[in-house]
Amino acid sequence: MESSDVDAAVRVQVPGKVNLALSVSPRREDGYHELTTLFMAVSLYDIVTATPARRGRLSVEVSGEGADQVPLDGSNLAIKAAQLLRSRHGTAELGVHLMIEKRIPVAGGMAGGSADAAGALLACSVLWGLDVDQSELLTLAAELGSDVPFSLMGGCALGTGRGEQLAPTLCKGSYEWVFALAHGGLSTAKVFADYDLYSAAQTTPRMIVDQLMTGLASHDLEAVRMGMCNDLEHSAIRLHPPILETLEEGLNIGGITSIVSGSGPTVAFLCADDDDAVNLAVGLSSFTSVRAVLRAKGPVPGARVLSNS
Ligand code: C5P
Repeated sequence: MESSDVDAAVRVQVPGKVNLALSVSPRREDGYHELTTLFMAVSLYDIVTATPARRGRLSVEVSGEGADQVPLDGSNLAIKAAQLLRSRHGTAELGVHLMIEKRIPVAGGMAGGSADAAGALLACSVLWGLDVDQSELLTLAAELGSDVPFSLMGGCALGTGRGEQLAPTLCKGSYEWVFALAHGGLSTAKVFADYDLYSAAQTTPRMIVDQLMTGLASHDLEAVRMGMCNDLEHSAIRLHPPILETLEEGLNIGGITSIVSGSGPTVAFLCADDDDAVNLAVGLSSFTSVRAVLRAKGPVPGARVLSNS
């Protein structure tokens, strides 16, 4: 890093996601579950800013809602991302300070931690001037976590494997979402462990994704509604019972369907239009089971550089 670069900063925005379908197969030998999932990136963004740090130093600070729950040590996924990128390029002397502004709910089932890892990969590769193409970024992302590749890619995609193997899917138009945040978060690993104990044997693979993909390609809201499903929903409810009230009673106010987002506990409502979303958002904000309400649109692009000075 040249001395003239001391004020350099690379600012990246990364979207959160909702799984329109999440079909889970039994646990594999490596401890992960084989998934068939349909991801949609939504317009709730974390911002990751990378600035130079002295030789070899990697550090992170986090601001925004839920920031106090995010670790600042080597277990932070954004730090792991910077470390991985640096080690693959044999450049241990490179340092970075990462500033993360959180808008995606922490531990909410919307891939907030994965978004920060994806943001750190992109921001550091630009700050450090490394020759890394999108395919290498996606490979590194998959090593960091199952949802990290999708945070980079964005849009709408079919995810298989443990969720890291992606195929972009057609999606016509834009969808209105309302997200009801719960009091507290859920650990993805605990939700999958509960699924193994109570649900795995009962779950039969469904032909969900075909109907959903056809619906998305033609903006057929009814087909999308019919195709939406989440095999982790029962486990998320078992571990956080108040979300059942949000899921069911929220629909009396508005939205065309509700679903637990990923491993929860955030509840996602797909809405018919802007009026429906406004109405629902106002109604949900008086629920005792709801900590906060956020509105978003999807699909939106994946991680992108906002500024590079
Ligand atoms: O991949 P990631 O580190 O985000 O996953 C967090 C945890 O969620 C894993 O340790 C695993 O317990 C669980 N998981 C799973 N199957 C997947 C993805 C995640 O069991 N396909």
